Amino acid sequence: MTAKDSNQSSPCCEPDLHQEVQRYYGEVLASTDDLKTSACCTVVQPADHVKEALAHIHDDVMARYYGCGLALPEALTGLRVLDLGCGAGRDVYLLSRLVGEQGSVVGVDMTVAQLDVARRYQDYHRERFAYSLSNVEFFEGNIEKLDELPLAAGSFDAIISNCVINLAIDKAAVLSSAHDLLRDGGELYFADVYADRRVPAELTRDPVLYGECLSGALYWHDFIALAREAGFAEPLLVESHAIDIEDREIAQKTGDIRFCSATYRLFKLSGAENRPEDYGHQVIYRGGISEQPELLDFAMDLSFPRNKAVSVSANIAKMIDASRFSSFFEIIGDDRGYLGPFRGLMYEDPFESVAADNLSGGCC
Ligand SMILES: C[S@@+](CC[C@H](N)C(=O)[O-])C[C@H]1O[C@@H](n2cnc3c(N)ncnc32)[C@H](O)[C@@H]1O
Repeated sequence: MTAKDSNQSSPCCEPDLHQEVQRYYGEVLASTDDLKTSACCTVVQPADHVKEALAHIHDDVMARYYGCGLALPEALTGLRVLDLGCGAGRDVYLLSRLVGEQGSVVGVDMTVAQLDVARRYQDYHRERFAYSLSNVEFFEGNIEKLDELPLAAGSFDAIISNCVINLAIDKAAVLSSAHDLLRDGGELYFADVYADRRVPAELTRDPVLYGECLSGALYWHDFIALAREAGFAEPLLVESHAIDIEDREIAQKTGDIRFCSATYRLFKLSGAENRPEDYGHQVIYRGGISEQPELLDFAMDLSFPRNKAVSVSANIAKMIDASRFSSFFEIIGDDRGYLGPFRGLMYEDPFESVAADNLSGGCC
């Protein structure tokens, strides 16, 4: 089934928005130069291991990259990863390199023109990475209906997405299907656009505002609530950057609504608590993650220096214990000595950190 078919069974207003998005990314935009705002742009400087991988990516794929942030978590070797809304495949091919030949990457997108570019360079990247077989697969499909694709529940170690969920109409469906597709201890690590308040419904009818990833953006508080409803306890903010709207016409329409791009990491955990609780857990990073051997930056204001005990909430101890990170850590404590709510610093609000952010805008 194609995305077009699946739209036909959707509620009345859904096909228009999907078709607008497909038109925007398939026909209106030919490259990042055509974007009108910096919303679908990345201001984050890539780490060295990502720069190395980027050097292999074909120019045509790079030209159609419309991501807004960092969607590449650490310690990817050997993992099976899904990219929701993979577009022309830049992140899929970066992941292909980072997971290595033993890992695998699946990309899903509903815009055929974007997928055509991604698929065209599959063999090119296999050869660049000297893999005997490609470790990449692409599916045309709607990320709001992932159960229509041949993807087994619990079969992914990580799911990423870069500037896509704001474009989805049924964002709750995307988050809950991602939860289903992850194995226990797996993580959804994704960059997206957020607003500092609910965006008025009439702005979603503006195809440019919607296509530029602004008017579909979730009010960040609503995102946290949806993430929890989907089963992801304690969403962790990794980083955020302000989005400058320099186009006067667009700025007039959005008024004083503020937007930012932010990366969150959400772990699928059984038995997680609804809020950060303190049971006296400490975790010690023992090193071994090649791209961050001395200091693992896990989330905003949560870093793990090698060989140093760091106090964490029970949920974070569980995230480490249940995930691929467990082999790099020692965990001290158990769930018996309850001390009260966890008092450590833990940002959820992506706008709290953008005030001090002077990297915004101008990236495209
Ligand atoms: C801003 S672009 C980002 C593409 C890619 N992640 C990148 O970083 O270049 C948004 C992409 O999401 C896709 N998309 C939006 N809504 C979708 C949906 N409901 N299902 C599948 N793909 C979707 C669009 O087709 C488009 O390729």
